[in-house]
Amino acid sequence: MRIFKEIQSIQNWCKEHKLQGRKIGLVPTMGYLHEGHLELVREAKRHCDIVVVSIFVNPTQFGAGEDFEVYPRDFERDTSLLERENADAVFAPTAEEMYLSDFSSWVEVTGEITTKLCGASRPGHFRGVTTVCAKLFNICLPDLAFFGQKDAQQVMVLEKMLTDLNFPLQIIRVPIVREADGLAMSSRNVCLDAEAREQALVLNRALGQAERAIKDGERDAARIKVLLREIIESSPRAEIDYAEIYDAYDLADIQQIDRKILMALAVKFGKTRLIDNRLVEV
Ligand code: PAJ
Repeated sequence: MRIFKEIQSIQNWCKEHKLQGRKIGLVPTMGYLHEGHLELVREAKRHCDIVVVSIFVNPTQFGAGEDFEVYPRDFERDTSLLERENADAVFAPTAEEMYLSDFSSWVEVTGEITTKLCGASRPGHFRGVTTVCAKLFNICLPDLAFFGQKDAQQVMVLEKMLTDLNFPLQIIRVPIVREADGLAMSSRNVCLDAEAREQALVLNRALGQAERAIKDGERDAARIKVLLREIIESSPRAEIDYAEIYDAYDLADIQQIDRKILMALAVKFGKTRLIDNRLVEV
């Protein structure tokens, strides 16, 4: 497995593989890898000849007062996990390599898709994500890029960017990977103390019960949102950022559940903010 820190060298390496007709898969990550990330790598290996995993804690997608400084990092462990998955290359640039001191170009998807949910609670977050992913796509020249459904809004925003700006690649969405007890895997789960870790199970439980209510015939989105909130609030340390239901394709508001919907949650346990979601079709 090759490890690259410099843009120029991995870009040349990827160009060479493309010239030889190889299909390149890119898995963008911020490291501290878990089974969710590794599932993306396995899916990429199934689809592509060459798999590149980027590890970069991207400063531009963190707001002031967020957890950029304390975001967990362990490069040695990450690379040994990726060796085991037979990843072909790791791209791990420094922030200075990615953002020159006079950096001033941004890629921004506008509209409801970036102003709701995490866009409302984390202003500027998606602009950071789309900008860094546009750079990673230009650097690694993938045919396919792999993203998790865990970050449902992120993948919707990136698909919009690809369509609007005619990026010559496709995104493959990978389903959410969960711990045995149902908690969605996240690099941030290690930040939870034992009590918060236990209480965090409420996210998946709330989504499961809401889905059951819909399957049993409830069609009123407002009533489902009340149900989600009641279940989450039964955990004393849970502080709801949002518990929403939107159209699964464009995040349009809905009153009646009469199409595919996205139920999306963001809940804080102390300083740690967790997200989870579920797509439901009626
Ligand atoms: P990060 O949080 O490290 O996640 C990297 C990728 O792994 C994302 O596509 C995310 O959706 C996916 N992922 C995380 N947990 C998952 C789980 N439990 N099941 C399935 N997939 C999961 O998302 C980012 O990094 C960044 O915003 C990034 C896209 C790298 C841009 O900086």
